[in-house]
Amino acid sequence: MSTNKRGLFIAFEGGDGAGKSTQSALLTDSLRALGRTVVSTREPGGTPIGERLRALVLDHGHGEIDPRSEALIFAAARAAHASQVIRPALRRNEVVLTDRYIDSSVAYQGAGRSLGEDRVLSLNEWATDGLRPDLTVLLDVPPAEGRDRRTAGDGSEDRLESEPDDFHARIRRTFLDLAAADPDRYLVLDARRAVEELSRRILDRVKMLLP
Ligand code: TYD
Repeated sequence: MSTNKRGLFIAFEGGDGAGKSTQSALLTDSLRALGRTVVSTREPGGTPIGERLRALVLDHGHGEIDPRSEALIFAAARAAHASQVIRPALRRNEVVLTDRYIDSSVAYQGAGRSLGEDRVLSLNEWATDGLRPDLTVLLDVPPAEGRDRRTAGDGSEDRLESEPDDFHARIRRTFLDLAAADPDRYLVLDARRAVEELSRRILDRVKMLLP
């Protein structure tokens, strides 16, 4: 389990197009300005093996990937991330910000792919040896709005993003249910609020948790 853990572990979660990477970058800057050492990372990815698994599971063109294989690939990338990046940084008493973590698998593979939330959660608890975030920031966005935001860029969508809106609606519901079941560990924000307002509210909450 999470022995020797110090530091602070924060995950950003939410649907595609919610603005997680923007908020994660802003929080990184604010915490560094306060003199904190911050490791800013993402899933799938964050390690060499994780980045290769990311390309396998997100790019179109690797043929069909069945739901269990998909869940295991995300979990494998996460296992490497937890043991090689997140735990070592927490032991050094650093702040770790990750763009997505276990809740993304529970939502996308558990609910979106209908593998079952509890099963996917257990798989990932095993993969990470029980490492949980101290705080999860959930940026909640309605599926249609998320799609508009992400296709406003170059218009391309990865394998998961290109799923229909009802898939994304199940994911949104699951994120909200996870947050409602454990309110002390979540900060739920409406991703349609102004960027500055969101970043201020996130920083206020994080400051209360800094070791
Ligand atoms: P993300 O990095 O947020 O996408 P982008 O870089 O395009 O903004 O996430 C990539 C996709 O992977 C996203 O659609 C969600 C999906 N995903 C899962 O299905 N399960 C998981 O466990 C994770 C971490 C991501």
